[in-house]
Amino acid sequence: MSVLKSLPGLKRKARRREGLDNFAGRPGLHLGPKSVRAGAALRAESVRRPLLPGWVACVAFAPWEIRRPARERSLCHDSHPVPGFSENAGMSPRIGVLGCGYWGANHVRTLKGLGALAAVADIHPERAQALASEHGCLALSPDEILAHREIDALVIALPAQFHADMAIHAIENGKDVLVEKPIALTVPDAERAVKAARDAGRVFMTGHILRFNPAFERLLALVDEGTLGALRYVHAHRLGLGKFHAEFDALWDLGPHDLSMIVALTRSEPTAVHGEGSAFVDQLNDFAHLHMRFPEHVAAHLFVSRLSPYRERRLSVVGSEAMAVFDDLEPWERKVALYRHKVWDENGRWKFEQSEPEYLPVEPGMPLTRELEHFLHCIETRGTPRTDGEEAIRVLRILTAGSASGEAV
Ligand SMILES: NC(=O)c1ccc[n+]([C@@H]2O[C@H](COP(=O)([O-])OP(=O)(O)OC[C@H]3O[C@@H](n4cnc5c(N)ncnc54)[C@H](O)[C@@H]3O)[C@@H](O)[C@H]2O)c1
Repeated sequence: MSVLKSLPGLKRKARRREGLDNFAGRPGLHLGPKSVRAGAALRAESVRRPLLPGWVACVAFAPWEIRRPARERSLCHDSHPVPGFSENAGMSPRIGVLGCGYWGANHVRTLKGLGALAAVADIHPERAQALASEHGCLALSPDEILAHREIDALVIALPAQFHADMAIHAIENGKDVLVEKPIALTVPDAERAVKAARDAGRVFMTGHILRFNPAFERLLALVDEGTLGALRYVHAHRLGLGKFHAEFDALWDLGPHDLSMIVALTRSEPTAVHGEGSAFVDQLNDFAHLHMRFPEHVAAHLFVSRLSPYRERRLSVVGSEAMAVFDDLEPWERKVALYRHKVWDENGRWKFEQSEPEYLPVEPGMPLTRELEHFLHCIETRGTPRTDGEEAIRVLRILTAGSASGEAV
């Protein structure tokens, strides 16, 4: 049974009252952490068996799917804007944010800066109200924001177990969606949501924010223009302390960022995935390693941890001619380093020569701002996002392969 169907606040009532509705205190809207955990538990068996030390999973993937062309659709704006819609009324597209927690608040701030913020909603009305007051937009209930005719698109930043069903509700209500990572906790749920968008001709984007980091774009360009030679190995480290989600482990929380970059660099899906994890704080993994094999003898490794004594945000690419590193903790002028180390065979003996890093210039730019600008552009042009639903499914397949066979051996 769908978790959402059991949540009273999410019943589809086709409520189309515009403006500030009196939802504060409406019974059944509050969903406390206990309910969230209970909802998550419904899926626990099939979804998030924790990785256990010493397990191995090898999964074959389908080859790349060809990207479908963007479909045309007309934006279904009301001809008469609703009074008090927000101080941004009249702009186009008009975006609502569903989920006013830590990350949703960042979307709200950024959309406000882009002049595209229309409304916010949260299962906790006071959170929506506080953000709405701060940023001068409407505070709605989840039902209301889904049904509101003057909102063109939604950013959905909820606990991940709600993402797929909420995205489908939004799409059914004629909205384009940007769904935060991970877009679901199972591949079938993700596929349902992405198919719903495809069938309805809606934009479906996922919040793989690092694809919009100018430093990563520089690194990707280095690979694409052949500066590194043939791609051999990619390794990514994403370490730090927290967050300790009750619903998913460090791999599902942190891994999507790097996996998104890895599939962009390799331009393929892995032919095999091998995972290992360790849980200490609770039953979900605080550490996880993924080893991946790609076509053309390319390999990759991902190490994530939410229980690390230090922060690390580093992606390294080893090519046949040179190596490069994207270090997101460095200032802009040192974020991308090129290493022209050399290794060669001299009369049957391997020689090597180390070179100093060459720091490549990168034009600074806020990744979330650039991600949301891209979303707005895709809404306006009906284009396919760089981080579209197919990419989100690719990443989920890797996560699933990495955690699917978590039995101890
Ligand atoms: N792209 C990134 O860099 C990035 C960074 C952080 C978080 N995220 C993702 O964003 C999502 C949200 O993360 P967060 O840290 O903001 O979580 P959070 O717990 O701080 O916020 C979630 C919000 O959703 C609300 N909520 C819960 N269930 C709801 C429901 N059914 N309907 C409406 N509202 C509901 C909660 O009240 C809360 O305000 C997660 O998927 C997370 O992985 C992405």
